[in-house]
Amino acid sequence: MSKATQAGMGGGLLLLTGCAGVQSIAPSGGAHTAAFNNLFVIFLVVCGFFYLLVIGFLGAAILRRRREGDTGVPMLFRAWVALVSVSLVGLAFASWLTDRAMASYSEQGSPVRVRLTANQWWWDVTYFGASHSEDIRTANELHLPVGRPALIELKSNDVIHSFWVPNLAGKQDLIPGRTGDIALLPRKSGVFRGQCAEFCGAQHAHMALTVIVEPEAQFRAWSRRQLATARTPTTAQQLAGMAYVTTRECATCHAIAGTSASASVGPDLTHVASRSTIAAGTLPMGRGGLYAWIADPQGVKPGAHMPYIGLEARELDAVVAYLESLK
Ligand code: CUA
Repeated sequence: MSKATQAGMGGGLLLLTGCAGVQSIAPSGGAHTAAFNNLFVIFLVVCGFFYLLVIGFLGAAILRRRREGDTGVPMLFRAWVALVSVSLVGLAFASWLTDRAMASYSEQGSPVRVRLTANQWWWDVTYFGASHSEDIRTANELHLPVGRPALIELKSNDVIHSFWVPNLAGKQDLIPGRTGDIALLPRKSGVFRGQCAEFCGAQHAHMALTVIVEPEAQFRAWSRRQLATARTPTTAQQLAGMAYVTTRECATCHAIAGTSASASVGPDLTHVASRSTIAAGTLPMGRGGLYAWIADPQGVKPGAHMPYIGLEARELDAVVAYLESLK
């Protein structure tokens, strides 16, 4: 197979992968993207119609040039201008209607309120409870109940990032020093992938956000588990790990509810093992991922603020055993 053919096939496959999946607007999972998709189809049909018409007229004009004394064009031109004008007004009206509809989705049902704070290169997530003591703090993963709006406050701790979960909503920048917001209304359960959509430094590509849309009962169960303090270690190894994590380097950046570790520089680790990824989608959650990340964070994600600690093998085993237990 020639290089050109391979490149062509690769490009075709890329286009196809853009049409479906956990990071695409096409199989819409939310009200906002559904409205946007509808508008896109209207634009595509209207513009496609005019494209074919223009090509047709062009062909007809080329044929006509061969004839003499043809005076039918001005009348046709007036009809053309009228058709284009009416269509443009129609498209503008469809845009306005879609915009109105998208603005009203945030008013349907009691909303889930979340603050998303972007950091180089991870997402700090806080759910606002009825009172401050019912707030939930997690990282790199959003759980949302299906059919209920989510009002998301957007902040940044360092540079400009951008929130984008293609299946659920369009992009919104997170600007340092400003508070932005975006509303989502998930209409389909599923796991979707969000991705920072504004170049924000070396690990911009490793700044993913997993969004899990689930039925209300499951969402409540998840909230209850997240609200609980961290599990108490059950083995001597886990206890040794807890002693290390809560008194040594880890505690200078991370918090674990129910222990003395309460720093907020890095992701909250209270239920770290309940999440599906490590380091904002960089590694899958699990024993292997935890070992790789803690032993060599700069090898996994160069430039990340998680430093190399240099744990001895016994300490590393204990720390991993403890973190693995934090479901
Ligand atoms: Cu954060 Cu790109």
